[in-house]
Amino acid sequence: MALEKTSVTITVNNDTYTRDIEPRQLLVHFLRDSLGLTGTHIGCDTSQCGACTVLLNGDPVKSCTVLTVQAADQEVTTVEGLGTIEELHPVQQGFWEQHGLQCGFCTPGVMITAVGLLKQNPQPTEAEIREGLEGVICRCTGYQNIVRAIQAAAEQFDATPAQTQAAATTGVTEGGE
Ligand code: FES
Ligand code: FES
Repeated sequence: MALEKTSVTITVNNDTYTRDIEPRQLLVHFLRDSLGLTGTHIGCDTSQCGACTVLLNGDPVKSCTVLTVQAADQEVTTVEGLGTIEELHPVQQGFWEQHGLQCGFCTPGVMITAVGLLKQNPQPTEAEIREGLEGVICRCTGYQNIVRAIQAAAEQFDATPAQTQAAATTGVTEGGE
């Protein structure tokens, strides 16, 4: 028997969506299946890999551990909301310049995690970056270039005027996608 559906409204990357969903639906499935935002990946069924990480009200969460209804009336940022081809987010720019990826499967979750890390600690040490990456697993890179990419993003923040840092850190700019 099909479960009764419930209506939720969630703002994702500055756009507001209302959908009828099953109460048991996970946020990662809402993003991927209901909205078609497939940049958020699913890499495990044990809540360990971090490939599904998104920002919920600016803080990183594993979207496979959050029910869609828990995100109702809140703001979600996915990798699609970080920047544009014309204007990369500083974290995306760092990954581009330092080649912080190989297969790229973990990359959306790693970048979102980095955004959350830099929001809390704009100038992290290498040890703090490595500690901040503990919740995300990369099978390819050995993490060296990921760390360099986040260091490059932090340097870019350092050179960014204060008034633009908040928008750059959350990845959400006025008007949005
Ligand atoms: S899919 Fe692996 S932690 Fe969410
Ligand atoms: S780049 Fe392949 S899993 Fe990280």
